[in-house]
Amino acid sequence: MSNPRYKLSTNFLSHAEALIPLGSQTFSKSRTQYPVGISPLFMQKAKGCHTWDIDGNKYIDLVSSLASVTLGYQNRAVNAVVRKQLRRGTIFSLPGKLEYEVAEKIVDLVPSAESVRFGKNGSDATSAAIRIARAFTGRKIVAVCGYHGWQDWFIGSTSRNKGVPEEVSDLTKTFTFNDLVSLNQIFVSHPGNVAAVILEPMNSTWPIENFLSEIRRMCSENGAILVFDETITGFRFAKGGAQELFNVIPDLTTLGKGLANGFPLSAVVGKREIMGEMSEVFFSGTFGGELLSLAAANEVLRMYQQEDIIGQLTAAGELLNELTNEEIAKNNLHDVLSLSGHPTWKFLNWRDHEAATSLDIKTYFMQECFEEGILVLGTHNVTTMHTKKIVKEIASAYSKILSRIAIKLKHNQLRDSLKVEPLVPLFKVR
Ligand SMILES: Cc1ncc(COP(=O)(O)O)c(C=O)c1O
Repeated sequence: MSNPRYKLSTNFLSHAEALIPLGSQTFSKSRTQYPVGISPLFMQKAKGCHTWDIDGNKYIDLVSSLASVTLGYQNRAVNAVVRKQLRRGTIFSLPGKLEYEVAEKIVDLVPSAESVRFGKNGSDATSAAIRIARAFTGRKIVAVCGYHGWQDWFIGSTSRNKGVPEEVSDLTKTFTFNDLVSLNQIFVSHPGNVAAVILEPMNSTWPIENFLSEIRRMCSENGAILVFDETITGFRFAKGGAQELFNVIPDLTTLGKGLANGFPLSAVVGKREIMGEMSEVFFSGTFGGELLSLAAANEVLRMYQQEDIIGQLTAAGELLNELTNEEIAKNNLHDVLSLSGHPTWKFLNWRDHEAATSLDIKTYFMQECFEEGILVLGTHNVTTMHTKKIVKEIASAYSKILSRIAIKLKHNQLRDSLKVEPLVPLFKVR
């Protein structure tokens, strides 16, 4: 039973899918994540922490374009430098000076950065890091933990591996977060052949004591390159990313998302000696030095250098966490919902209940959130535009929604209250 509130979105999907497989360029923005009929599927505008769907409904946006926005949509200062750059040119036939200026700021902010190369997507950066690591070590095996993008070397190790040759997948081995034994097994099974260990230094759970420093030690001892994938944690957890927060310095780091507040820019950075491989390793793209994104990054990083952006993000995230936990407690929902992770990137963890599965409950939660004007998927990706007032608005919507969930579960009515089929399990990498 489709909700008329999303009439235009729902109708437009069939047009979009006639030309665009899945109707979206990004898996996590597609109907695979947003149940058709109860969700907005297409947006027309975003400003600050708000977004408007094509039916004209307004939302407080907690997705923040998959955490790629930290300063809110259309940040005024960032837009101003981008407009200025637009008048000078969006791209040149030779590199511009902006590449150097942005690289200089990254080197200033990120502890592991001595040398910098730019790409467009996080996947460019992680794939470049792996190629450099293989070139530098002359080895083949890669140990992975977390999500690292769409390229063969990583996605081949997941259940979404269609189209990736087995020969490629076989070179990537997964290990478990906070489980050093699982990583050690990879070193033991492939003596002298582990080129790189790549992980998100943190996602949904905090690293246990010594986890990251032990990985650092194991890599150094075994001659493997340690890569921190800070596509999300960079410019969210600390000015210098998770490596600064946990004081563990990798050999290479990948950055993306928040680097240019939603403009397409990523970077692979690291020790000069290892990055030096780049003179021979082929990592090259026509749009690598595209200037609007670099201008945006230059302003974003200036703000990170001069203002307490991390403090603002953390305060917003902490308040949202506190108020959400109060609502969970009030409604006695501890058994079905918990929050975990860093305040600036909090995960909502749903668990099965005797009256409904975790996916039933998550779908119902999304259905009700969208109706109340909150756009949320599986995490709270706060920005500096999520002010106290906005966070309180979210909490007041959660108060209604969580109490509805508690009542529906108690009376075994949650499944019947779903207006569409619940979400189905998708591939899980975190
Ligand atoms: C940790 C991490 N690494 C890599 C990527 C890939 O980035 P992109 O989607 O920009 O290619 C993502 C994207 O979500 C990510 O979260």
